[in-house]
Amino acid sequence: MEKLVNLCKRRGIIFPSSDIYGGLSSTWDYGPLGVELKRNVKEAWWREMVQRRLDVLGLDAAILMHPRTWEASGHLQSFTDPLVDCKSCKQRFRADHLDSNRCPECGGELTEARQFNLMLKTFMGPVEDTASTIYLRPETAQGIFVNFPNIVDTQRVKLPFGVAQIGKSFRNEITPGNFIFRTREFEQMEMEFFIKPDPEEEAKWFEYWLTERFGWYVKFGINADHLRLRPHEKDELSHYSRGTTDIEFLYPFGWGELEGVAKRGSYDLDRHAEFSGKDLTYFEEETRSRFRPWVIEPAAGVDRALLAFLLDSYDEDVVENEERIVLRLDPRLAPIKAAVFPLLRKGGQPEKAQEVLRMLQRQFVVAYDQAGSIGRRYRRQDEVGTPFGITIDHQTMEDNTVTLRDRDSTVQDRIAINELARVLEERIGWLK
Ligand code: GAP
Repeated sequence: MEKLVNLCKRRGIIFPSSDIYGGLSSTWDYGPLGVELKRNVKEAWWREMVQRRLDVLGLDAAILMHPRTWEASGHLQSFTDPLVDCKSCKQRFRADHLDSNRCPECGGELTEARQFNLMLKTFMGPVEDTASTIYLRPETAQGIFVNFPNIVDTQRVKLPFGVAQIGKSFRNEITPGNFIFRTREFEQMEMEFFIKPDPEEEAKWFEYWLTERFGWYVKFGINADHLRLRPHEKDELSHYSRGTTDIEFLYPFGWGELEGVAKRGSYDLDRHAEFSGKDLTYFEEETRSRFRPWVIEPAAGVDRALLAFLLDSYDEDVVENEERIVLRLDPRLAPIKAAVFPLLRKGGQPEKAQEVLRMLQRQFVVAYDQAGSIGRRYRRQDEVGTPFGITIDHQTMEDNTVTLRDRDSTVQDRIAINELARVLEERIGWLK
């Protein structure tokens, strides 16, 4: 993990937040390459979960929600972790993460566990009193539930259907850490899939979404041996869940949650109907009946997915007797798709390279580098995962062809410039 954290900082993928002030604990900023990678992870999810389906719609709800939302959702009362303090070294721990009732750092005695609410509070407007208290959402899901009647009334949807959104969530975690694995500000990609209230339908769609979501990680480059499914024990289920299975990833610190797939039943719609007094039912034409649907929820973290993709793509090998670091990222996720290099800084090569750059930039994120030996330039791109290197050389000036180097195999093909965009599109493979 340390090697990856260093690479991320050195190459502008992820920086410690507020770095010049010594950083803010467990808070991270995505740099110029990180922001591209993150956008691609979200794009990969959005395309698969929303745009390529007819049964899932998108939504972008506000982070700030009416405070009654959190009473209704149960988060005010139940979204807590048990907190203990060490009486000797004063460190804080989550009681449910400890193996014994002694301090894991110094062996000291621990206080009794206190329940600690994880929601971050702030105030709406200039007066800071209880009436103006508002919460930063701890999950994006509630924005979907409160919009259920808006979606049903405006979209002519038919069960089963899903509503998906990507956005920031906030939790006042007691023990954040492990780089971007657990932070207080993070991004989620969640989908609420509404189904008929029937245990057989529930079992069918739960299996369906577990398989889909597991497959998504493999499709975008995670080694399937580094993934496993772990059903929750009864006593670890969230307050809203009738059953949850985590998709876990093998992080350097051990197996940990990557995504949770939960059966939320009609818990959320029931509670919001009760607290708002509004009708949150769905009308089924065939049976002429009204009911509140049940829900299957695949809930993923953008940052955790990005961490898993980085960890599984990190590699070190030797090319032409030189060691290199290479991120073997799926080309669809890679922050930069190709880099253009003039072999020499003369003979019209830089001008030609700029021309190729501008042509490709219409479709792709492309870098340009003319500093240092060609070998060094390839390596600079390898370590940020750029899948293709395009070199303009003396032959280019004669026949309008370039060399196209593959990051993983380092094999080079000669390609005509007017074929380049099509070949890149094919090899990047959005169409797959
Ligand atoms: N709506 C259900 C829900 O929020 P969750 O299991 O608490 O379920 C879903 O969160 C996903 O969000 C997790 O699997 C993880 O990827 C991500 N996540 C949750 N807490 C996080 C944190 N503190 N830092 C980074 N990612 C987090």
